[in-house]
Amino acid sequence: MQSVRAADSGTLEARDVHVRFEGVRAISGASLHLGQNEILGLIGPNGAGKTTLVNVLTGFQRPDKGSVWLSGRNVTGRTPFQLARDGVARTFQGVRLFGGLSVFQNVEAGALGVGLGGHRARERADEVLQWLNLASQAMARADALPFGEERRVGIARALAMRPRFLLLDEPAAGLNERECDELREVIRDIRRRLDCGVLLIEHNMAVIMGLCDRIHVLDQGRSIAEGAPSDIRANSDVKRAYLGEDFV
Ligand SMILES: Nc1ncnc2c1ncn2[C@@H]1O[C@H](COP(=O)(O)OP(=O)(O)O)[C@@H](O)[C@H]1O
Ligand SMILES: [Mg+2]
Repeated sequence: MQSVRAADSGTLEARDVHVRFEGVRAISGASLHLGQNEILGLIGPNGAGKTTLVNVLTGFQRPDKGSVWLSGRNVTGRTPFQLARDGVARTFQGVRLFGGLSVFQNVEAGALGVGLGGHRARERADEVLQWLNLASQAMARADALPFGEERRVGIARALAMRPRFLLLDEPAAGLNERECDELREVIRDIRRRLDCGVLLIEHNMAVIMGLCDRIHVLDQGRSIAEGAPSDIRANSDVKRAYLGEDFV
């Protein structure tokens, strides 16, 4: 899978990644690839290494071993800033907005971060706020927002970078059912409008099974399965490690 994918034009790929923190093996041999215009689910139990793998793919964590490839180029060791300029954007499990700034300024920061000038950054922020139905909140302070909207601003900030690859770390956590439905539509719309690849870490199986083209499963830092949703839900290793024997 690796050498063939490396020559592809639009892929973000982790190859045999290993990460250790002190005594903890967070990832010990994970490989995955994300193509353009696909939605890839990344699932597994708490502590499986999902966030660490996203950190590696986005330059926030350097792997001890293994490499990261972007459209056939080895980009291991590049900074988050460099990767963002090359089209790799993410959201965080803990959202991490600039709390004292307005919603508008948070989203504008995404556009400025990938090198757009003042006027174009403001235009881009306006456009994304309209797109995500946040225009009426543009002047609100980010730390005054209800939780669901805070999440949406995190996605808006990443979209202002106009990514080719977007990595979402548990975007539905803590959302109610209506907000989960909206999120699903937003993710479909992102793929449609930006033609980008989306990697989605999520524990909500209705969201994962309903959205993803492929699902990759991590357990204890290792890739244990990958396939279409129908294959993954029937996979006995995945049931044992994560979904539960009763999952149908
Ligand atoms: N900065 C860190 N320092 C020490 N241990 C860490 C750090 N980040 C993650 N870990 C550990 O690495 C493992 C994988 O964590 P993580 O990638 O957050 O898993 P997941 O996102 O799948 O829940 C866990 O055992 C976690 O405690
Ligand atoms: Mg995590």
